[in-house]
Amino acid sequence: MSRDNVYKPDTATVTDIQLEAGGGRPIRTMTFQVDDPAERKKFLHKPGQFIIISYFGTGESVFAISSLPNEDGIIQVSAMKVGNVTGRLHALAVGDKVGVRGPYGKDFPVDEWKGKNLVFIGAGIGISPVRAVYQYVLTPEQRKNYGDVTLIYGARTPADLAFKDEFKEMDTRDDLNLWLCIDWKFGPKGPIEGNAHTDWPAINMSAPGDTVIPEGVNKFTAFVPQLVEVVKPKPENAIVVTCGPPIAIKFITQALAKLGWSPDQVYTTLENRMKCGIGKCGRCNVGDNYVCKDGPVFTQKEISEMFDDQ
Ligand SMILES: Cc1cc2nc3c(=O)[nH]c(=O)nc-3n(C[C@H](O)[C@H](O)[C@H](O)COP(=O)(O)OP(=O)(O)OC[C@H]3O[C@@H](n4cnc5c(N)ncnc54)[C@H](O)[C@@H]3O)c2cc1C
Ligand code: FES
Repeated sequence: MSRDNVYKPDTATVTDIQLEAGGGRPIRTMTFQVDDPAERKKFLHKPGQFIIISYFGTGESVFAISSLPNEDGIIQVSAMKVGNVTGRLHALAVGDKVGVRGPYGKDFPVDEWKGKNLVFIGAGIGISPVRAVYQYVLTPEQRKNYGDVTLIYGARTPADLAFKDEFKEMDTRDDLNLWLCIDWKFGPKGPIEGNAHTDWPAINMSAPGDTVIPEGVNKFTAFVPQLVEVVKPKPENAIVVTCGPPIAIKFITQALAKLGWSPDQVYTTLENRMKCGIGKCGRCNVGDNYVCKDGPVFTQKEISEMFDDQ
């Protein structure tokens, strides 16, 4: 296929579909394989990069690639159904065709992190870009290169928790500290103190850091930032990767700051609206930074500097 037109997608076929979470905004994990074997190698990505998927006749959307890097043109994304394109993607069946272009963007500097302890924190669909990195780090080839690995993930309701089967399996690993939570129930005046999930003990909302963790319990009713205060990940020789809705990231960052983490240890991804994905259209920029080209991976320090310059 000619590469003269950089916006021209390759075609790919849906090979697998999994419903990860139900509820009002369901999440599906879809696996695609690029059709032309000669083009597959160029889709070899690095953890943190994104792909642009087109539903022909409707439009394009941007997704974090959550599969492991491979030269077989296999691309996995987890998409939340929020609008036109994601609505169409949720109606796909195995064997259907989409367009794919990419991979684009800066990746997480996983090689620089070798020898460090890693803490992954995901909230809601924000687990998707985080998953690309923890899956990579947890492979038998890579795991030995890193210190302790901690994974903290939460969603609004039990139905919104994605990758349930995967987490069940990960819970049995002895080289991973896994912590899960479900949000408090919400009433008209905000969160209601009480247990939204009968089996998962509640964390004291006003002083989460004082919570005594019962022996063997790693699942709670709490917001993700509170769970971070309970788990108390240590900042020495360590890196955090966190993604989620901006409000969650704001409070996760505050919780980490209380625990002594500095903004240059905390990596996240920005999800500004995008069009071209390659630094040409100016849709995604923050000041001089094009999120599609200079990101989407940034440290919290870089993000603060970008927004301070506005
Ligand atoms: C780098 C990057 C990685 C992303 N990774 C994922 C992912 O792994 N999984 C996933 O489900 N989504 C991801 N997104 C968001 C995804 O691109 C949008 O949800 C999607 O484009 C919406 O398309 P749509 O046509 O269905 O919605 P539209 O019909 O265009 O819009 C429906 C609603 O979604 C909102 N919306 C649209 N685009 C975005 C956006 N980029 N960010 C926030 N709100 C938006 C609109 O404001 C509107 O309220 C990512 C976005 C970026 C930039
Ligand atoms: S999306 Fe076009 S410049 Fe970033």
